[in-house]
Amino acid sequence: MVKIGLVGVRAFSIVDAVKKMPEEAVITAMCDLREEALAASREKIGLTESQCYRVYEDMLEKADIDAVIISSPMNCHVPQAIQALQAGKHVMCEVTAAVTMDELWWLIEEVEKSGKIYMYAENYCYTPEVQLVRSMVKAGMFGEIYYGEGEYTHQCSDLCFCNGKPTWRHYWQMGTRGAFYPTHSLGPVMQCFDDDRIVSVATFTPGCHNSLGLRADDLTQTMCQLESGKLVKIRVDTMSPRPHNMMYYSVQGTKGCYEAARGLGDSAKVALVTEGEPDAHLKWKPLSDFNDLLPERYKGNAGEGAGHGGGDYYIVSDFIDAVKTGKQPELNVYKAAEWTSVALLSQLSVTNGGRVMEVPRFCPNMDYAEKKIKL
Ligand SMILES: NC(=O)c1ccc[n+]([C@@H]2O[C@H](COP(=O)([O-])OP(=O)(O)OC[C@H]3O[C@@H](n4cnc5c(N)ncnc54)[C@H](O)[C@@H]3O)[C@@H](O)[C@H]2O)c1
Repeated sequence: MVKIGLVGVRAFSIVDAVKKMPEEAVITAMCDLREEALAASREKIGLTESQCYRVYEDMLEKADIDAVIISSPMNCHVPQAIQALQAGKHVMCEVTAAVTMDELWWLIEEVEKSGKIYMYAENYCYTPEVQLVRSMVKAGMFGEIYYGEGEYTHQCSDLCFCNGKPTWRHYWQMGTRGAFYPTHSLGPVMQCFDDDRIVSVATFTPGCHNSLGLRADDLTQTMCQLESGKLVKIRVDTMSPRPHNMMYYSVQGTKGCYEAARGLGDSAKVALVTEGEPDAHLKWKPLSDFNDLLPERYKGNAGEGAGHGGGDYYIVSDFIDAVKTGKQPELNVYKAAEWTSVALLSQLSVTNGGRVMEVPRFCPNMDYAEKKIKL
């Protein structure tokens, strides 16, 4: 039985998932600076007052926990993850993993030193649609994938203020220039390029035309060059006045392509090369025609009711498995670092006229000399 402590109210999104696996995991503590959040957790999770903490260090020291799920503001992620690892706890951490490149290296070093599990909570990788497309990619149905796109369009400038005061997002998200929140888009797309990695990024923006009083540009377009020479394009747009679409993806291969829904009645679709039919005449088919190819565990109703189309159940399940087996999960600290570094390096790219920034090779026992920002 894995005993979990939650940090930050957003972690409520996994409460229902944990309740679905009562033999495997239980939430035994909650931490949040705000008293109202703690009161809500007593109600939602069924904790006692003594299981709720306002001070994170108190929870680490006093609570009966094996692991923490960190859902505090982005700038708290690495300090809190490091403290947990040093206290002998496993960590699952919200996106993005860090707010500076130095933090990424501290995090990697601490995970390696501790021998504890670190899982990156990139939940968009776990949605049924993304999982289905990944299965089709693995089955070779699109041929060799050579191009992918991800877009996160979510007008969320209102989250930068609460009761007239700036929130953490005012600074750490929309207070920075560059693709500060790229991993919901990158993660699912990069999972279609197994064994490849991002070697460089260049980010471009149209400037700043929305007078919202925030430092971020209207949007960012980031070109990610992969080691294989293939290409991924990511749009992060949290300022433009437009309807939300946080999960737009597309992948292109030598035998076909996939595109997520864009809106207004559109639905997810694929076009696949069929023998005897010219490529130029390919027709879209609904992605749902291929539902049989969903991974087996998604076919039952285990994830039903959990957030993100049930995906939140499977991400927690993978974390619990990793803790039980002692084997780092697929979304390990190196993937967290690679995908998060796109945000951090994109800031340097934008502020230097779209300069191409080299992405370090994040891997076990990285050489000290490689832990730097290369210009
Ligand atoms: N994966 C997703 O789909 C998704 C969606 C939304 C947010 N997020 C991520 O979740 C995290 C939280 O975002 P949010 O929208 O819930 O933010 P929020 O500001 O609404 O909530 C943050 C909570 O953390 C608490 N907190 C702040 N500092 C703390 C500290 N030092 N110790 C304990 N508690 C502290 C605050 O009191 C607050 O209740 C962010 O990293 C964000 O990027 C992920």
